[in-house]
Amino acid sequence: MKIGVIKETHKGDKRVSISPNIAKQLIDKGFEVLVVKDAGEGSKYKNSDYKEIGASVESRGVVFKKAEVLIKINPFDEEELKLIDKDHILMSQLFHKSNPALIKTIASIGASCFSMDAMPRISRAQDMDVLSSQNNLAGYKAVIRGAYEMTKIFPLMMTAAGTITPSRVLVYGVGVAGLQAIATAKRLGAVVEATDIRLETKEQTESLGAKFITVDNEGEESEGGYAKVASKDYARRQQEAVNKSLFKADLVITTAMVPGRRSPLLITKEQVAEMKNGAVIIDLAATQGGNCELSKLNKTVIQNGVKIIGTSISPESVSTNASDLYAKNMLNFILHLTEGNKFKWELDEEITDTTLIVKDGKIRQNGKTE
Ligand code: NAI
Repeated sequence: MKIGVIKETHKGDKRVSISPNIAKQLIDKGFEVLVVKDAGEGSKYKNSDYKEIGASVESRGVVFKKAEVLIKINPFDEEELKLIDKDHILMSQLFHKSNPALIKTIASIGASCFSMDAMPRISRAQDMDVLSSQNNLAGYKAVIRGAYEMTKIFPLMMTAAGTITPSRVLVYGVGVAGLQAIATAKRLGAVVEATDIRLETKEQTESLGAKFITVDNEGEESEGGYAKVASKDYARRQQEAVNKSLFKADLVITTAMVPGRRSPLLITKEQVAEMKNGAVIIDLAATQGGNCELSKLNKTVIQNGVKIIGTSISPESVSTNASDLYAKNMLNFILHLTEGNKFKWELDEEITDTTLIVKDGKIRQNGKTE
């Protein structure tokens, strides 16, 4: 089976879906790997690194023509869709719930596609879960970015010139990114608090040495490990419970998402007006509309001395590690789906069933949005 590694075209994304190390493991298992020229350069992998392990490096046109399976991180763009034919099998994050037009286009071509972000949250799928591997790095990087933007340090420091009190960090959303943000801020010596609509995250927060701010979530629902949209009443209760900590925080990291929906609005401009002068908000949900009312994607907004940085959960700035982990997820996924280098198409098996959005031009149940 010929696997094509497509160069990411999404602005600012330096990652690559298959690293040379994983390409080698695929080749050792009998797959052929074709890589679009310079696909790895943003992750510091040269064309020669791929050639040395036996992959071939080709132009984009040749890879689309020769490869049967096309692998990416970001959804296929308009130019790429023109190069796809009915025999192609696509694997990338498709965010199918918010991208129905893309799914319809793939179906109209007659191709098949797997969406990596549709991975079920079950134990045996953990090593294929790209959202986890990428969000984990994003949570780490959010704290490092915060440290850089703040005018304070994190730890308690006793010096001859006086004592520096530790910074206070507040994390909204204790999913994969939030947990790593808590752990990183704790390691750096901050006093950390966190909140989440899912109360099962209280224990996880406390096990990292942080304080959990409990908000009564009666009547709120979750599904398959993910939160659902919170009610207005919950948002009001959350504000009441969190405001005291928010107004004292030096760094706020927001990570709250609801799959396929706009990210929940957790910090209003009125709340920002009450925050400390010099506080920093890193909003990792900005691609989905942001958790802070004032966030703008890839922009820094300063309001009453509070710096609000709207960023994405994609850890583009740590592209080498992010690519390595994404590639490992892909290897596990490909091996799960194939036998003797051929697709098994076990449509009743949970991982296949959930991630396979279009098969031979037919949109499957999980890909339907209406
Ligand atoms: P996510 O990226 O969908 O959301 C981040 C966090 O925001 C979640 O914890 C969510 O509950 C929270 N949130 C949503 N709306 C909120 C609101 N209005 N107020 C406060 N918090 C809100 O979540 P992520 O990181 O994908 O993780 C979701 C769960 O799935 C976690 O428990 C994680 O450990 C689990 N998981 C399981 C996997 C597996 O078993 N294979 C793989 C990955 C995650």
